Amino acid sequence: MNASLQCIWIKTYGCQMNQRDSDTLAAGLRAKGYTIVSNENDADIALLNTCSVRALAESKAIGKAGRLLKKKKKNPNYRVGILGCMAARLGKQLLQTLPELDWIAPPQALAKIPDWIQETLQKPSCCGNVLSDAGNFDFRCYEQALLPSPVLSIPIQQGCSMKCSYCIVPKTRGPQQNRPFASIIQEIQQAALQGTREVILLGQIVNAYRDPEQGKSFVDLLTAIQNIEGIERIRFVSPHPAYFTDELLQGLGRLPKICPALHLPIQSGSNRMLQAMHRGYTREKILQLVRALRTLHPLISLSTDIIVGYPGETEEDFEQTYDLFQTVAFDMAYIFKYSPRPTTPSASLKDAVPTVDTRTQEARNQRLLSLLNETSTRYNQQFVHTKQTVLVEGSAHRGEQKWFGRNLYNKKVIFEGTPSLIGSFQTIRITKATASALEGTRES
Ligand code: 5AD
Ligand code: SF4
Repeated sequence: MNASLQCIWIKTYGCQMNQRDSDTLAAGLRAKGYTIVSNENDADIALLNTCSVRALAESKAIGKAGRLLKKKKKNPNYRVGILGCMAARLGKQLLQTLPELDWIAPPQALAKIPDWIQETLQKPSCCGNVLSDAGNFDFRCYEQALLPSPVLSIPIQQGCSMKCSYCIVPKTRGPQQNRPFASIIQEIQQAALQGTREVILLGQIVNAYRDPEQGKSFVDLLTAIQNIEGIERIRFVSPHPAYFTDELLQGLGRLPKICPALHLPIQSGSNRMLQAMHRGYTREKILQLVRALRTLHPLISLSTDIIVGYPGETEEDFEQTYDLFQTVAFDMAYIFKYSPRPTTPSASLKDAVPTVDTRTQEARNQRLLSLLNETSTRYNQQFVHTKQTVLVEGSAHRGEQKWFGRNLYNKKVIFEGTPSLIGSFQTIRITKATASALEGTRES
């Protein structure tokens, strides 16, 4: 290895899957002798793990790569790579904007990247290495141990085979591929031995999971995890409303380790928009599902993703979304302004359907944000004066003695403590609630 090229900084854009891919990459690079640094100024290699889901995420990454590449003027050995969804979407085209880029590799190539980086660094000049979409995703890369952590994200799928009209993911991550059941269980058993207490199963549509080897279902997977000693809490993101079967509902009722907090991306409350987006469900189906979930767990936390300003969205359509949001009273949400993604079906609608102008998009975004502020504050207020069991995750970055964890309902809880509490369950008496977090004191 070139001794002057050992310190790598990885920056992650986008979703939890990308974050976990970065952690996996870091583990693979560490195993090869590289040092992963958290400060970009300490690095001689920068890797950007990028996201293509909205134009803004892409332009931020391009800007960052451009600024990093300037470091080559002072240090010709400095190296920059663009990995992840933008590398899949744009491939070699990235070299037109950033000709000095050293590496371009899509998400499907994750398992190969550490070897490839090591090999290409041996060459006198590194520029312009492009790794192609390797086809089948090699899920074994997720079996290497990460740094121990009380909460661990576990990928169970890659890619997506749905045809949501606005979404670039099926293009960047390819069709849905499921990770073998045995590999998932092995990773979780290993993690439990290292002190992991909570797992978050990750996938584009987790409830469409099917074991490629023995055909086991998502509920079979949840049942097997329920039986792993040491794992106390199970979460998953994201289930698709159209795949929410009775079997899954029964599973939620039967398996006590599944936390009563679901992220259910509804995207819109207008049946007309849902149809245009090819989502495969109606607002009535959402209301029915929410009723069933609240019958199981009256306090269940429900969060969602919403897109405002999809082409053709009228005031009436938006009111339907506002009304559904208010009726369900989602207690957390990501609200996005529609961003046309090249090559997706909705990006070519431009001439056929009136687009929603940016001011209207912004106004709708703001209306939903203020509704969210009300619903989330109201939901969180109910915890004041109660005792909550919190799995302690780390520093709250709010002064030296402030630590944080989550309660069963996935709400962040901040309290005074010591680092030795990390990884343990603590009882916290809640004294204060805001739209985004709870605060409290530890019961001894
Ligand atoms: N524009 C805006 N938001 C989008 N999302 C996906 N594609 C787009 C797009 N083109 C949102 C959806 C999805 C979340 C991950 O990102 O709400 O659930
Ligand atoms: Fe995109 Fe739909 Fe797949 Fe989610 S489910 S990633 S919105 S195509």
